[in-house]
Amino acid sequence: MNTEELNQQFAIRDQLRFEAGVNGLTRAVIHNDASSAEVYLHGGHITAFHPHGQSPVLWMSNLAQFKPDKAIRGGVPIVWPWFGAHPTDSTKPQHGFARISEWNVAESSAPSNTESRLQLRMNSSPETEALWPHQFELSYTITVTESLSLKLTTRNTGTDAFEVGCALHSYFAIGDIARTTITGLDGRSYLDQLDGMQNKLQSGAVIIGDEVDRIYRDTEDECVVHDKAIDRDIHVAKSGSRSTVVWNPWISKAQRMSDFPDDGYRTMICVETTNAAEDIRTVNPGESHSIVQMISCHSSPSKTVN
Ligand code: BG6
Repeated sequence: MNTEELNQQFAIRDQLRFEAGVNGLTRAVIHNDASSAEVYLHGGHITAFHPHGQSPVLWMSNLAQFKPDKAIRGGVPIVWPWFGAHPTDSTKPQHGFARISEWNVAESSAPSNTESRLQLRMNSSPETEALWPHQFELSYTITVTESLSLKLTTRNTGTDAFEVGCALHSYFAIGDIARTTITGLDGRSYLDQLDGMQNKLQSGAVIIGDEVDRIYRDTEDECVVHDKAIDRDIHVAKSGSRSTVVWNPWISKAQRMSDFPDDGYRTMICVETTNAAEDIRTVNPGESHSIVQMISCHSSPSKTVN
C-alpha cells in the first residue's frame, strides 16, 4: 500500500498518519495528548518516542542508514527469529530478518485522546522461508500513551514446532553514560558475550565504564536506567521474557560501526527485553508466544525540555 492508501484506511484524525520518511521509507507519525512517536514499516522499527514535557526517550544514531536491506541504528529494532548470529549459518543476517523486512499495517485505533494504537503484521513468505523454513504470523502492537507498550506475538501457522529467539532491542537516550546506572539485575547471573560466554554474577547496580555485552539470565524483573545527568529514570518492564540484554559498544566498537557516531556510546544504553540463550521459546503448531516491553519514564520537572 502506498501512503495515500494507508492514510485512507488507517489514519486517525489528529493522532496518526502515514508519510514518506527518510529516503522515502514509509513511517507512521503518532501524536496524541500524552506523547508522540514514529514507526517505520521497514523493520517495524520505532525511531522516536517522546512523551510531552520530556526529552526524547529513544536514542537514534545520526548516521543511521534508512535502506531496505539494512537495519536502522537506534530506536527499537525487532530482533527475530534468532538473537545474534544464526546458530548454524553465519551467512544469514545477524539478529534475524524482522528488522530488515517490510511490515504491513493491520489495525489502528485511538481509545482516547492520550492513547494511540498501531498493529503491524508480517507473515511467512517464500523470501522468509528461504531464510527460516517455518510458517508464521508475527504481530506487533504498539501502544503510545505517556508510556510506550510493545507486544510482539509469534504465531505458528505451520504444522511443525519451531524455536524462536528475539529481542525488543531498545536504545535509550541518556545524558551521560558516566552518570548512568541500571538497577533490577542485582544478584542475577549473566553470560558475558565479550568473554567467551562465561557465566558471571552481577553484584549491585550495572555501571558501564567499558564495552558491555551481557545476557542476564532467569530474570523477569523490571530494570530502571537511572540517568543522573538529566535527572531521569527510564523504567523497562516486561513479560514473556526471562532474559535481559545490556549492551554498550564503548569506544573502539563504536569506531568500527559505520552507522554509529564515534562518541555515540556516551549518550546511549541498550536494555533489551529478550528471549535469548536458554530463554529461546518453542512455539507449537497453532500456538503463539508473546513478549511485551513497557517503557515509562519519570523526570524531575526542572530538568525537562519540550
Ligand atoms: C546486541 C548484541 O543485542 O546487539 C551485541 O548483544 C550486538 O552483540 C548488538 O553487537 C548490536 O548488533 P547489530 O547487529 O545491530 O550491530
